[in-house]
Amino acid sequence: MPKSLNRFCPRSGEPVSDNSLTRYRGRTVGFCNPGCRDDFDNGGPRATEDRRYFDVLIRESYGLMPGGRAGKALEAVLPTLEAERLRLRAPRESDAESLFAVFSNPEVTRYWSHPPWTDRAQATELIDDICRRALDGQLWQWAITEHADDRLIGTVTLFSMNRNHRRCEVGFALRSDRWGQGLAREALSRAMRYAESEVGMRRFEADVDPDNAASLGLLRRLGFEEEGRARARWRMGGGVQDSILLGRVIHD
Ligand SMILES: CC(C)(COP(=O)(O)OP(=O)(O)OC[C@H]1O[C@@H](n2cnc3c(N)ncnc32)[C@H](O)[C@@H]1OP(=O)(O)O)[C@@H](O)C(=O)NCCC(=O)NCCS
Repeated sequence: MPKSLNRFCPRSGEPVSDNSLTRYRGRTVGFCNPGCRDDFDNGGPRATEDRRYFDVLIRESYGLMPGGRAGKALEAVLPTLEAERLRLRAPRESDAESLFAVFSNPEVTRYWSHPPWTDRAQATELIDDICRRALDGQLWQWAITEHADDRLIGTVTLFSMNRNHRRCEVGFALRSDRWGQGLAREALSRAMRYAESEVGMRRFEADVDPDNAASLGLLRRLGFEEEGRARARWRMGGGVQDSILLGRVIHD
């Protein structure tokens, strides 16, 4: 296992021992003895406090804490991209409130892969996750902002990135008061242009609920073509949902 993120046990303050390591949110963390580690793994009474401690360290390691290194590493993998009316930039910890406003709205999550958020901590967790996965090279998820205002109004995502085969999936969500102005189309178009020029992406894929007319409309306008229907692909709210699969190919 790689070296522990923390040098000292969150419980005793003693140095971390090599035989007491475990994984937390994709990182190696440690305790001073295997007993504390097992208690953490089993969700014991002190595990919540331990998680809080590790979360702070994880955020610090990304430079996300106030006064931190301002996410320089993140900015290198998620550079700011300008579009006609929009700016795409790396998400920050201070976006949590705006991100929560997007994904706590049932209209936005109607065709999404999770129910509406109910807790602001879910926004902070997503921002941490975006940073970790971006730095690991797995995903690019930008905050969508308008030129006149740095506040996040949605996100645009390229994920399931396969650099060998030069393909990835796309995702997008916008605050509902900004729908219907072509803003998501502008954001996705800019992100795909970046992926084409930066890593030579040649195929973009989307997986859309058959009833999500806005998403299907947006993708078709951007040249995505329907490639099939995947049956019973998602289990949501007690029901089973099909998906329309679409693809856009950039020919060499
Ligand atoms: C999907 C979403 C991002 C679209 O954002 P948007 O900025 O309004 O999209 P755009 O204006 O760029 O394009 C939407 C297209 O669909 C059309 N459209 C919008 N609502 C529609 C509806 N109810 N029925 C049919 N077409 C619709 C628009 O007219 C537009 O087509 P046009 O450019 O040919 O006029 C937004 O609705 C959203 O955030 N939804 C919730 C999250 C989500 O479902 N994401 C997609 C998951 S696959």
